[in-house]
Amino acid sequence: MDQYRLPRVLVFPLPAQGPVNSMLKLAELLTLQGLHVTFLNTPSIHHRLLLHTDVQARFSDYPGFLFKTISDGLPQDHPRSGDSVMEVIRSINTNSKSIFKHMLASDELGSESSPSVTCMIVDGIFGGFATDVAEELQIPIIHFRTLSACCIWVNMSIPNVIEAGELPIRGNEDMDRLIKTAPGMESFLRCRDLPSFCRVSDVQTDPNLQVFVQQTLQSPRAQAIILNTFEDLEGPILSHIRTLCPKIYSIGPLHEHHKLRLAKKEASQFSNSLFEEDRSCMAWLDAQPSKSVIYVSFGSITVITRDQLIEFWYGLVNSKARFLWVARPDLVAGEGQIPAELLEETRERGYIVGWAPQEDVLGHKAVGGFLTHSGWNSTLESIVAGVPMICWPYFADQQVNSRFVSEVWKLGMDMKDVCDRKVVERMVNDLMVERKEEFQKVAEEMSTLAMTSLHEGGSSYSNLDLLIEDISNGRL
Ligand code: UDX
Repeated sequence: MDQYRLPRVLVFPLPAQGPVNSMLKLAELLTLQGLHVTFLNTPSIHHRLLLHTDVQARFSDYPGFLFKTISDGLPQDHPRSGDSVMEVIRSINTNSKSIFKHMLASDELGSESSPSVTCMIVDGIFGGFATDVAEELQIPIIHFRTLSACCIWVNMSIPNVIEAGELPIRGNEDMDRLIKTAPGMESFLRCRDLPSFCRVSDVQTDPNLQVFVQQTLQSPRAQAIILNTFEDLEGPILSHIRTLCPKIYSIGPLHEHHKLRLAKKEASQFSNSLFEEDRSCMAWLDAQPSKSVIYVSFGSITVITRDQLIEFWYGLVNSKARFLWVARPDLVAGEGQIPAELLEETRERGYIVGWAPQEDVLGHKAVGGFLTHSGWNSTLESIVAGVPMICWPYFADQQVNSRFVSEVWKLGMDMKDVCDRKVVERMVNDLMVERKEEFQKVAEEMSTLAMTSLHEGGSSYSNLDLLIEDISNGRL
């Protein structure tokens, strides 16, 4: 076989923890099947990956695997954490097209045995400029949407929602109004459940809303889209999306798919963390009774105020539940760390880490609930582990995800737009005590469906095989 005809796949994620996590796992699944892969990342995220993980050594074993970087167009000292991820996205969308095209056209992203990129898998948030380049260079492109299908469908529906006059939202008193023009969601999607970027008065020009919606509308231009979800969870919504994008590979939950296809033991030692993991919490969990601990984590981007921190803290303490809390160094705006006197009060029932090995935590038998920001990766990890959720969405897709968790999938409760110690206490009590069995039962059933989809004959298993075949045979 002519070595020069070996396919090379470019994988280009949105530079944030959740998307990097899932797309690096997909990249590894492709390399396992013998495909040559280039993982294109921004320098700052690549640097953090090298700092906190063993990815370099791990991927050096795969022939043809390359890490490459592309500038996000922002100054080196630009803060790239928290909300500023939107600035990074806007900057890449505005500034990176010509360099991206040059990298592809000059074979800078290939190796001697597979010099040219023959297929691109790009985060759909970069769908516009990346698809322009793909069309110009005649390279097939797949958009990977690392968000839930329900959020993608809401995004696709937003132009109609605006057209119908259902947006903008007219103040706080309007937040519970039902949205009628997002097909399939008419009976439960309220204004407050729309992506956070819809909470603006100028829905025609707001830059974050524009990026979120306009990039999603590019998806029908791609040869196919990949979604990190499974048919039994989001089948009805996937059917709606298929009316616009017929070729969808639903291959999730990807983190578990990755674990199953690699030798399980080996995979659990791997981490794609951009933060330093504190594994000491695993020993603490070992000492707690079964399903007694609520795990509290707001992902990699959420920033809360000191007042919110205090409300969560007292809510948890007053609930009397045991809790494991991820307090990232940059979680609280300003100087707010958890005050020492509060820490002292709960030494026996609470444990704090800066960053946890989340998949292992959720899979631990001591964990019975998850207070989460409803990031899509966290949601899927909780579903696989069969852990019910209390949702406190922060931004973007999370407002949609939390509504589906509570109203559609019945996997927990939605606390959006409220941060009050009494509500926190009541919801923790409901989840961990009063309604424990009810939520546990639904969560276990959904976990079983997720696992079934990942085994031979399951929908995600078959779709991943099909994706690999289609890429390998140039059938896109
Ligand atoms: C971002 C957006 O915030 C989210 O809305 C979107 O759905 C995906 O992109 P992020 O905030 O990082 O993601 O949340 P999430 O998608 O939940 O991903 C967080 C990842 O970090 C998960 O894979 C989780 O396992 C991991 N994590 C989190 C840890 O490994 N340790 C922790 O302590 C916390």
